[in-house]
Amino acid sequence: MGRKFFVGGNWKCNGTISEVKKIVTILNEAEVPSEDVVEVVVSPPFVFLSYVKSLLRSDFQVAAQNCWVRRGGAFTGEISAEMLVNLGIPWVIIGHSERRQILNESNEFVGEKVGYALSQGLKVIACVGETLEQRESGTTVTVVATQINAIADKVSSWENIVLAYEPVWAIGTGKVATPAQAQEVHFELRKWLQGNVGAEVAASTRIIYGGSVNGANCKELSTQPDVDGFLVGGASLKPEFIDIIKSAT
Ligand code: G3P
Repeated sequence: MGRKFFVGGNWKCNGTISEVKKIVTILNEAEVPSEDVVEVVVSPPFVFLSYVKSLLRSDFQVAAQNCWVRRGGAFTGEISAEMLVNLGIPWVIIGHSERRQILNESNEFVGEKVGYALSQGLKVIACVGETLEQRESGTTVTVVATQINAIADKVSSWENIVLAYEPVWAIGTGKVATPAQAQEVHFELRKWLQGNVGAEVAASTRIIYGGSVNGANCKELSTQPDVDGFLVGGASLKPEFIDIIKSAT
């Protein structure tokens, strides 16, 4: 089964109403390959989710950037998976390295969140990736295998998961992984799925790359056999996001 190219735009903690309107207008006016060829999902901050959803073209979808680990309740400041479902938000990003590092989200916590979000009917962009120290000490594959293992422990179906490989050293640094570096880790992740989950899941799960992707470097990265798309930060707030979507073809 072919894996449909996937391009996510993670807006992180950025934007005002007028900036959001501008970005959505650019997206809505763009000519891009059809949704049979590329799945496009943009992820605004929580407060703009419904607004963006209401303005956005119907062939693009929206994602939240996080959600609470279990059913909602007395968890001040959190947003539950049920609320996202209630608002008609189909996707959520879980385990982004900024949350793992700054908010100390552990592998187990991320795994639980992925499992709970899926159980409520959300689709999940699950992020993994190593730090510079880990890469330099040669532990990249072990690190991402441990992260994916904690997710696999809580998941019974991989149908609604897109796996995002985002090396921490490449995020927001302008220091993109080379196509060979990205391919190497994507290949290892797919091999891990093959060995630990099954051949069908390994063949069908999309593994996307994130970390300083832009309009200039996306094409070459997209030609790697195990790179099935991108999770884009900074460039998803700019018109060049359209070029990244177009790298699907
Ligand atoms: O989730 C996307 C991300 O962390 C990459 O950010 O700004 O390096 O494209 P950026």
